[in-house]
Amino acid sequence: TPSNQPYRTSFHFQPPKNWMNDPNGPLIYKGIYHLFYQYNPYGAVWGNIEWAHSTSTDLINWVPHNPAIYPSQPSDINGCWSGSTTILPGGKPVILYTGINPQNQQVQNLAMPKNLSDPYLLEWVKSPQNPLMAPTPMNKINASSFRDPTTGWLGPDGRWRVIVGSKRRHRGMAILYRSKDFIHWTKAQHPLHSAKDTGMWECPDFYPVSSDSMNGVDTSMLGSSVKHVLKASLDDTKHEYYTIGTYNHEKDIYTPEKGSVDSNLGLRYDYGKFYASKTFFDSTKNRRVLWGWINESTSAAIDIMKGWSGVQAIPRKIWLDKSGKQLMQWPIAEIEELRKNQVDMPSTMLKGGSVVEVSGVTGTQADVEIVFEMPKLDKVELLDPSWTNPQLLCSQKGASVGGEVGPFGLMVLASEGLQEFTAVFFRIFKDQNKKFVVLMCGDQSRSSSQLDYDKTTYGSFVDVDPVRGKLSLRSLIDHSIVESFGGEGKACITARVYPTMAINGGAHLYTFNNGTQSVTISKLSAWSMKTAQIN
Ligand code: FRU
Repeated sequence: TPSNQPYRTSFHFQPPKNWMNDPNGPLIYKGIYHLFYQYNPYGAVWGNIEWAHSTSTDLINWVPHNPAIYPSQPSDINGCWSGSTTILPGGKPVILYTGINPQNQQVQNLAMPKNLSDPYLLEWVKSPQNPLMAPTPMNKINASSFRDPTTGWLGPDGRWRVIVGSKRRHRGMAILYRSKDFIHWTKAQHPLHSAKDTGMWECPDFYPVSSDSMNGVDTSMLGSSVKHVLKASLDDTKHEYYTIGTYNHEKDIYTPEKGSVDSNLGLRYDYGKFYASKTFFDSTKNRRVLWGWINESTSAAIDIMKGWSGVQAIPRKIWLDKSGKQLMQWPIAEIEELRKNQVDMPSTMLKGGSVVEVSGVTGTQADVEIVFEMPKLDKVELLDPSWTNPQLLCSQKGASVGGEVGPFGLMVLASEGLQEFTAVFFRIFKDQNKKFVVLMCGDQSRSSSQLDYDKTTYGSFVDVDPVRGKLSLRSLIDHSIVESFGGEGKACITARVYPTMAINGGAHLYTFNNGTQSVTISKLSAWSMKTAQIN
């Protein structure tokens, strides 16, 4: 990263310049990973959207290609918006995407590779039958809320299904279509699922997860050993949520399980910045991989000045937690190829009020794994029953607000005198029933001493029992982005920050404990990260 570009990332995916938003149609084909993404070739703000294309053999280093699809026919002349890929029988990948037609209606189009023997899938041909799905007066679809088709799944009846995000009044929904040949599509009477007061569902994602293994499964998998996940990105709040549930393939209805909250207050992949995400099944490694877009927290004026906007999160392996009640996420193992100069901290007692530097790592690009143990849990803050919103709780009890057990955690992208830092930390409470409650926070309020931008504090409860001992935290730090994984992947918080002192050689890494009670760091390993070859 040149010194006049301190916020460019070193191992997070981004194009050389200009605007990027949603990841589109990730897949693996003939051993090559593909990532397409929403891209503006003419500037650092949203517009002129086409599908840019890069490929990789390890999901870390990327080679750029010409755009895969760009506006060229009436059904997409005003934009090639988000969509997905599906691998058809015989291993043939196809793209389904949203096109914006001359009337500015949202319609769904198909594109196929020109040459199936090219593992890089450089050229794509659009179907002459496009659009394959369109709003009509008959089907009552809202032409400005009909977009982002999913990967298809094949039913035992030989018909393909896809869902398309939509809304009716303020009810968000996943409109279902069926097809025998992937070209002629019929809208089902009922949506696969809908939820009141959620507004437009952007970028829906629907897939099975194994209920007894960490392996991923193919999108068409059915049966008693899987549950299903439905994710929606809510246009109104720019937050995603997901539910875990059951899919009745005969009735083509998805039902979230009891306790799976079907609204903005539900489970999230990430409680910080993370949007328009999409998963794919990586058949070579039997895993399901999640991609998500992380936008800037700065104003468009700053984006234009620096000439780019948007990064992609590190791809995450995703699987169902043993409890069956939530998903687990972990950065794909390949990211560890970039680790160098490992630093290990011997078991350390972090007394209340202490700050301990982790030296020997490059503060601007690092990977840190840390395990905390809480030897004493007899003096713990009480959780008021009204404190049900973890994000609010974190913003009221930021890193500088002392507690009993916690706040303890990491200060990353920190300047030497701590004028600037981003804090990722835990705080432990006890509720009315004497049950321990673990809170994880991302506090950006002190992340930059000079620049003004969205410094919202993020938070999530983490479903781990501190009595059983360990509480883990991993943070991937990359210049202007911090991705943190609490409780071995039970809760994730991603932040965008723009330090002005903690850049280049000025960035440090500290552990801290701002509670009265001591906690122990039983394990800490940190690595400087090599710079990946990205585009
Ligand atoms: C989500 C989204 C999608 C749309 C695309 C346009 O960020 O608004 O709904 O297809 O971006 O770029």
